[in-house]
Amino acid sequence: MDTFDFTGDRLNKFLEDGYLVIEGFYSPETCDRLRQECSRLIDDMNPADHRTVFSTQDHEQMKEDYFLTSGDKIRYFWEAEATDDNGELNRPKHKALNKIGHALHFLNPEFEKATFTPELEAILRKLQFKKPAIPQSMYIFKQPRIGGTVTKHIDATFLESTPSKLTGFWVALEDATLENGCLHFAPGSHRDAEVTYRMVRNPDKNAKQTLLFEGEFHALGDEKFVPVPVKKGSMIIIDGKVQHMSAKNVSDKSRHIYTFHVTETHESEWSQRNWLQPHTPFPLVYERTAR
Ligand code: FE2
Repeated sequence: MDTFDFTGDRLNKFLEDGYLVIEGFYSPETCDRLRQECSRLIDDMNPADHRTVFSTQDHEQMKEDYFLTSGDKIRYFWEAEATDDNGELNRPKHKALNKIGHALHFLNPEFEKATFTPELEAILRKLQFKKPAIPQSMYIFKQPRIGGTVTKHIDATFLESTPSKLTGFWVALEDATLENGCLHFAPGSHRDAEVTYRMVRNPDKNAKQTLLFEGEFHALGDEKFVPVPVKKGSMIIIDGKVQHMSAKNVSDKSRHIYTFHVTETHESEWSQRNWLQPHTPFPLVYERTAR
């Protein structure tokens, strides 16, 4: 990557705004390779093995279990509009997925190679990470016409640690535009922000609902948000506490992206109430990059 630089003004801009675009973080070839690898995974996948919409009373529970046990697997999540009342896909499988999660970054060699890079390590060192790890990754499709809205949120709602130190990395594998659902940010909303809203495991093990939301999210008004369209290959670095969202894809073009989150593990405690619990330790960035 020729244009890599995360010092001085750029670092300050990230600290000020809570997000930063780095153009050309992935080459067009890397973007295409990841898209092809993802397409190959879908070729080999049988939708019947990953159908989490069932016409039974317990389907919500089954959906939750499929999600909750996906931390160390490559799993497939469908767009709500892509299934009919019986849970059957109403379009080809390649056009029906919302996302793949949550362990592409350590189970798939192509994604692993594109994740644990010297450039990532350099950014994390500038952000004072001592022992960063990657708890999750996602490939998000934002399919033409049906790719759903992601409402205003902060990422720390979903991945809590004490103290909280979470940074998201989001790479456009094709152009993200105003029409196909680019990200929108509320610049500066991370500063002095508290995590007041959390998605947690239900302490009542017998309850039907295994996940709960606790607290309240104080979403800023629409006028505080700015759209951030980016070119293919651009990386957006995202503070865990900055408010962001994306609109529904109303265009005929998809908006494929690859994203992962980095958390500090040095003198830090991962919340046992997080949906995502490590079966084996989360992969450490500096160790993997040095291999
Ligand atoms: Fe997010």
